[in-house]
Amino acid sequence: MSVLRNDTLLRALRREPTPYTPIWLMRQAGRYLPEYNTTRSRAGSFMALATTPSLAAEVTLQPLARYPLDAAILFSDILTIPDAMGLGLSFAEGEGPRFARTTADETSIRALAVPDMAKLRYVFDAVIEIQRALAHAVPLIGFAGSPFTLACYMIEGGGSTDFATVRRMAYARPDLLQHIVDVNTEAVAAYLGEQITAGVDAVMIFDTWGGLLATDQWRRFSLAPMRSVLEQLSGATARARVPAIIFTKGGGAWLDDLAQSGADCVGVDWTVDIGAARHQIGGRVAVQGNLDPVALLTDPETIANAAHAIIRAAGSSPGHVFNLGHGIVPLTPPENVAALVGAVHGHSNALSRQTSGV
Ligand code: CP3
Repeated sequence: MSVLRNDTLLRALRREPTPYTPIWLMRQAGRYLPEYNTTRSRAGSFMALATTPSLAAEVTLQPLARYPLDAAILFSDILTIPDAMGLGLSFAEGEGPRFARTTADETSIRALAVPDMAKLRYVFDAVIEIQRALAHAVPLIGFAGSPFTLACYMIEGGGSTDFATVRRMAYARPDLLQHIVDVNTEAVAAYLGEQITAGVDAVMIFDTWGGLLATDQWRRFSLAPMRSVLEQLSGATARARVPAIIFTKGGGAWLDDLAQSGADCVGVDWTVDIGAARHQIGGRVAVQGNLDPVALLTDPETIANAAHAIIRAAGSSPGHVFNLGHGIVPLTPPENVAALVGAVHGHSNALSRQTSGV
């Protein structure tokens, strides 16, 4: 393991005391930053950016040059796996992801296979390049989509507000959904294993659409596959085990299941009472969250007040990682992010001094 200059995040994930609450933001590298948009237009497309390790490294570091964030997150996308399965991913300007081929009928679903990880070499090369550029300043978080969330995009062929086709399949053809999810589970485990081998310091599983399912379906099609991924990672890695964060958006009713998933930290969205969540599961796992990203569209004072409320509610015991409840929205003014990071560091540091009597 490398010696990090700022290992606050890793300590918080292990529920060890930290001098302040670490903060990083989902989608911290992205379209709200003018320098991201410049690099993206130089690359020509999102996929060109993501598949060129030097450019992926450049945009990963952009938010860290502006703000004293406590972690970097690999610049990539959860949909690289289905792309490597041959589904043909593209991102049109201003639109969501699109697959050239969907996986909604029995023939294409039965033909699915775990992709050769060599097809995703550009991601592992980006990890190596980012770690070189970071020079042990802060930890690097790797990530993947949950097997179920990947299935959502593969079946629908792109984004959707309700993923009705997928939810219908959960009732009408659970055997087919199970098959997609099983293939994805093996792919995600191999993919995160390779990211760990390449050098990420922590991993996060984004279960963005798990919250759309009924509880028994979520346990079967999303939680069980994520548990399997986490179990595979805890055994077979070349490096010492890295901490894992699990995040089911809309999963506030399932905190006990998430705390028992094998992850070290549970991410919560803004609908969750973070004080209650810390009380319920904070003795077992760290908790990450949970400011509504829309709060960043206001002003520094409103943002500071909202951040203070979360820090107070989360309490002074170790194991809170500050984050948004979902990704930063593109209209976010960059100076508001500076206000948030400053407020989180300042307020949590003052609180920990009070508590420890320093
Ligand atoms: O800074 C970071 O957080 C790291 C990079 C990152 C991206 N995508 C870059 C990206 C991460 C962690 C993701 C994960 C991701 N991608 C998720 C899970 C998290 C979540 O937001 O729920 C999902 C569902 C996707 C799929 C995806 N990728 C969508 C729906 C879109 C289009 C909508 C949008 O917000 O842009 C993308 C494209 C994407 N991924 C962009 C970025 C910076 C914007 C693409 C562009 O530059 O045009």
